[in-house]
Amino acid sequence: MVAIKDIRAANELIADGTAPRIAVFVGGTSGIGQLTIKALVTTGARVRIYLVGRKSSEDRSKTFIEEMHTVNPKAEIIWTEAEVSLLGETKRVCETIKTKEPHVDLLFLTTGYAPFCKRQETSEGIEESLSLSYYTRILFIMHLLPLLRKADAPRVVAVLGGGLERLNSLQLDDLELKKPENWSGRKAQSQNTTINTVAMDKLAGDNPDVTFIHSWPGWVDTGNVKRGQENGSLTSWIFRLLVEPLVATISFRLEDSGQRHLFQCTSALYGGRGVPWNSKPGINVNLEAGTGLFLVNPWGDCTPNNKNIVQLREKATETVWEHTQELLRPYL
Ligand SMILES: NC(=O)c1ccc[n+]([C@@H]2O[C@H](COP(=O)([O-])OP(=O)(O)OC[C@H]3O[C@@H](n4cnc5c(N)ncnc54)[C@H](OP(=O)(O)O)[C@@H]3O)[C@@H](O)[C@H]2O)c1
Repeated sequence: MVAIKDIRAANELIADGTAPRIAVFVGGTSGIGQLTIKALVTTGARVRIYLVGRKSSEDRSKTFIEEMHTVNPKAEIIWTEAEVSLLGETKRVCETIKTKEPHVDLLFLTTGYAPFCKRQETSEGIEESLSLSYYTRILFIMHLLPLLRKADAPRVVAVLGGGLERLNSLQLDDLELKKPENWSGRKAQSQNTTINTVAMDKLAGDNPDVTFIHSWPGWVDTGNVKRGQENGSLTSWIFRLLVEPLVATISFRLEDSGQRHLFQCTSALYGGRGVPWNSKPGINVNLEAGTGLFLVNPWGDCTPNNKNIVQLREKATETVWEHTQELLRPYL
């Protein structure tokens, strides 16, 4: 476990030379993304942040941006509107960022929810929670990779369930979970977690200069647990009476979660570059230090899950990657 006091001490070293200069946050309109932006801005470093979010979050995001400007006038946060569940919108907004910036140091991805509700598709015909937690996230990475590769120490951090992936939780013959028997909140969560790791592992292999982190945040009481429920359903009552009080008790403190994720964005523990880390280096999914894909648990430890990763590479990567490429191709 990386103690919160060590994380705070490391984060205090973040300054103009060690902070990401240009960062893109997709999902920073609330929850862990917003907490991480707050922690980053509070360091006082000069940073430019593209805060990408949907129209309905614009007003409160602009209030948040004003607050952040008073905390640190050197931090520029640019409100960037996009319906982030849509691939066409993802492409559009990435094209805009590409015309404005020479490089991107950090891409931080947190959109999504666990869908304990009926399967609902976006106007592009993809189940919404899968689109938010997987397809648009991977499309953001693929579009911004050319800019990430131009940065000195580029990093992609995706928050979902790193370390929890398993081959037997994958519906390889129904990756979009279209068959009714494959649809449930639990199955969608497992599927999302595993395909994210599979795709990030592939991307990390193809882009050895970029550090990838798939983070499992543990419980953080952001309200995320309520998002995927139908009002008045049995599940929503079970969550309200049993799960939500439990989440409130065992959750990480909001501010600590922001600090922990800022640490994942900046510390040399993961990948050797960034804010110096003088203790044991982190180990990637290949059981090596250096860059690559790091699966990070709520306490900041690397949990390489190497046995499952090797199995997934043998049995799933080709299928997942071909499917993903085919689905994303019109938007690349
Ligand atoms: N919090 C936890 O305890 C926990 C635990 C394990 C895994 N996770 C996963 O980690 C990630 C980050 O969690 P979080 O607690 O930070 O999440 P969050 O605050 O509930 O939401 C993160 C982002 O997703 C966006 N979003 C949600 N539904 C959307 C929709 N239908 N269309 C467009 N945007 C949508 C939100 O946008 P708006 O601000 O516009 O609503 C927000 O920017 C999520 O994928 C979550 O499932 C969370």
